Amino acid sequence: MGNILKHINDKTATLTINRPEALNAFNEEVIEKLEFVIEETIKDDNVGVIIITGAGEKSFIAGADIKAMQKMDQASALEFGKKGQLLTKMIENSPKPVIAAVNGFALGGGCEISLACHIRIASENAVFSQPEVSLGILPGWGGTQRLPRIVGYGLANEMIVSGKMVDAKEALRTGLVNHVVALTDLLDKCEEVASQILKNGPNAIAQSLKCINGSIGLDLESGLKMEVTRFSELFSTDETKEGLSAFVEKRKPNFR
Ligand code: CAA
Repeated sequence: MGNILKHINDKTATLTINRPEALNAFNEEVIEKLEFVIEETIKDDNVGVIIITGAGEKSFIAGADIKAMQKMDQASALEFGKKGQLLTKMIENSPKPVIAAVNGFALGGGCEISLACHIRIASENAVFSQPEVSLGILPGWGGTQRLPRIVGYGLANEMIVSGKMVDAKEALRTGLVNHVVALTDLLDKCEEVASQILKNGPNAIAQSLKCINGSIGLDLESGLKMEVTRFSELFSTDETKEGLSAFVEKRKPNFR
């Protein structure tokens, strides 16, 4: 797929953004290709977890393509923004957990793509930033919405209005990432987390993600109602019967 490389191993698909000449910045073509590959990967029964990373040792994704944006007017910027938002929503709504393996710069749209992933694991050289205001624009792929939900309003406000760079240590301390490891260990760490996830019931995972995503904007009472409905629905599935029986019978569940 040119700009997107895909490798599947042990039910884990690793998608690598491969545009090193622009530090893996996203133009429309890259957005569309990644969307296509993610859609295809979500449908693939041989995949349970998706990892997104960037080619090379320097950059995860250096954001939206600034050279392409320079030529945009209001109408084309609206289309471009919507395309990026569609991609981030597709990642966030994936029934299969998506892990961002952040191997360097996660700037602007790159930071926003990582924010849409369910889990972020960074290498020690990772740098997160929403530098859009330095270009006279604002984060357009969900940064103003997802960043405060993940790190809180204080840090999100500072990052977005100052464009401040957040290094891996600060990202770990502030909850922006789940783990920080050496660059050489990054994909191994992501695969270790993936293998832990893959031991579990895929339908239970998908429904859990739906509950977590669905909680945003709901009051607690409505959220609990949604949760207990999905909880009870699982009891009519073979997967749940297998999981509960396996515990009682002191054996490993066979979910797949
Ligand atoms: N768009 C297009 N090209 C980019 C790019 C981007 N976002 N980021 C880097 N590149 C290109 C550079 O233009 C350069 O190409 P040329 O050799 O053809 O000039 C190449 O990648 C290497 O970059 P640098 O020479 O700049 O490398 P560096 O190590 O000196 O600096 C950097 C690295 C700090 C990441 C710097 O490239 C940079 O600041 N990039 C821009 C990052 C940015 O502002 N991203 C946010 C974009 S806005 C956005 O994403 C909006 C949104 O919400 C959707």
